Amino acid sequence: MKNSPLRLSASLAIALLILTDTGTLRADTGTAPDSVEPSVAQSTRAIAGQLLNQLGQKLKTAMTTDGPLAAVSVCKEAAPSIAKSLSAEHGIQITRVGTKVRNSKMGVPNTWQKEALSQFEERLSQGEKPADLEYWQVIDSGNGKRELHYAKAIMVQPMCLSCHGQASDISTPLAEKIKLEYPEDQATGYSVGKLRGAVVITKPL
Ligand code: HEC
Repeated sequence: MKNSPLRLSASLAIALLILTDTGTLRADTGTAPDSVEPSVAQSTRAIAGQLLNQLGQKLKTAMTTDGPLAAVSVCKEAAPSIAKSLSAEHGIQITRVGTKVRNSKMGVPNTWQKEALSQFEERLSQGEKPADLEYWQVIDSGNGKRELHYAKAIMVQPMCLSCHGQASDISTPLAEKIKLEYPEDQATGYSVGKLRGAVVITKPL
C-alpha cells in the first residue's frame, strides 16, 4: 500500500491545494518551511554566517590596526565585495540591509526585507533572543519556479557605535568622513542591542 497510486495522487492533491490556496508558501518563523530542504536551509544559513564573519573580522582588524577612520573605507570596499563574491560563488543574491540606511544602493530593504525587519522588531519586543531571529519565505516566482527569501538579524554591538551610534559616540573627523562618502547617510542614532538590519539572501530553488 505504501506507494499506491491512490495514496500518491492524494498527497499530490493536498500539495496542490496548499499551493493554490496560498499562492505563496511561507513560514515566517525561526524554522525553515517544509518546502525548503534541510540541506538548503543549512547552507543558506551558513552563507549568511560567512558574510557576517568575514566582514566582522575585517572590520575588527581595521579598527584595531588602522583606527575607525580607515575602517570606513574598509567597510565601503569590503562589504560590497564580500557580498558580491559570495553571491557569485553560490548562485544567490546576498547583501545587508538596514533599519536605517547608509549605503543607499545596496542597503535599502525591498518589500519582503522590510517585512522581515518589522517582524524581527516585533519578535524582539516579545522577548525573543536576537540570535534566534531568522525569516524564511518561499515564493512562486512564475513558470513553475520558486525562490527562497532568507533574512538573519544584525544587532548593534559596542564596536558599531563609533560609526552608527549617537552623535556623541561619533568623533567629528569620523562624522565628516562618513558624510563625505555617504551624503545620504541615515544609519546613526543606534544604541547597543538595537536591530541594525539583516543579512538577506534570495536563492532560486
Ligand atoms: C568604521 C565605521 C563602521 C563601523 C565600526 C561599523 N560600520 Fe556598519 N557601515 C559602515 C559603512 C561605511 C557602511 C556602508 C558600507 C557599504 O557601502 O556597503 C556600513 C553599513 C552597514 C550595514 C548595511 C546597511 C547600510 O546601512 O548600508 C549594516 C547592516 C551595518 N553597517 C552594521 C554594522 C554593525 C552591526 C556594526 C558593528 C558590529 C557596524 N556596522 C560597524 C561603517 C561602519
